[in-house]
Amino acid sequence: MKTARLTVVGAGPGDPDLITLKAIKILALADVILYDALVNPVLLEHAPTAEKIFVGKRKGCYVYQQEQINDLIVSRALSHGHVVRLKGGDPFIFGRGSEELDFVKEYGIETAMVPGISSALAVPAYQGIPLTKRGSAESFWVITGTTKRHTLSTDVALAAQSNATVAILMGMSKLSEIVSAFAKAGKEKIPVAIIQNGTREDEKTGFGTIDTIEKVVEENQLTSPAIIVIGKVVENRSVLSKNITHLQEQPSYKEVRYA
Ligand SMILES: C[S@@+](CC[C@H](N)C(=O)[O-])C[C@H]1O[C@@H](n2cnc3c(N)ncnc32)[C@H](O)[C@@H]1O
Repeated sequence: MKTARLTVVGAGPGDPDLITLKAIKILALADVILYDALVNPVLLEHAPTAEKIFVGKRKGCYVYQQEQINDLIVSRALSHGHVVRLKGGDPFIFGRGSEELDFVKEYGIETAMVPGISSALAVPAYQGIPLTKRGSAESFWVITGTTKRHTLSTDVALAAQSNATVAILMGMSKLSEIVSAFAKAGKEKIPVAIIQNGTREDEKTGFGTIDTIEKVVEENQLTSPAIIVIGKVVENRSVLSKNITHLQEQPSYKEVRYA
């Protein structure tokens, strides 16, 4: 009998090299992997023998509701042993990782958590945008654009009054409201970056200010998944001379397998 176990694992933001060594080791030990749409499927190669179940959104629709995912975790852990719940970025940043860990508690399932590199940090970084920088920003907010009630988070208006860098996830459908909140705070000229599919090969970007960004989005046809970064750090970003390089084709990468 295998021990029923759930490990919630962060897959990083998209570039398959931006995953932790611990996550790779855990994937190799999985009996079942339940993974989301934002997980780069290349990462599943780290678990050649595990059963893999896609539980994310397909064409804008959920394949599984959260309650069904919870039930699947429990039933597979009890029947197969080690379930890895692989989530984009970090599972505790707008990832519902803690809800799933809480749910399985009453079933006597062992639990563990492997943090991941959140898109909130890595996606701006790949564009040379530091969320804090001396003289530009002393702090940052990471806010969800869309709350449980499908409204814009009231934290956006609060953040607009601060000097902090503001990184908004799940905010593309609320861009007009975000622009209004910043305009209301007198921040029309604050620089904005929008990064879609950040750290991936199909990454797209748009740069502007609060009063131009909607036009930029339209011209560049930017859409979700994207991160909206608002603040002085956007214009003070470092110019990176190299394009993103994916290392998985290199032999040393392929040799990284843990039994
Ligand atoms: C449900 S949240 C999950 C966030 C994730 N747990 C993390 O730490 O990155 C999904 C949102 O994260 C942002 N996101 C995740 N990966 C992204 C990427 N590679 N590029 C741009 N935005 C991304 C988008 O705003 C997307 O709508």
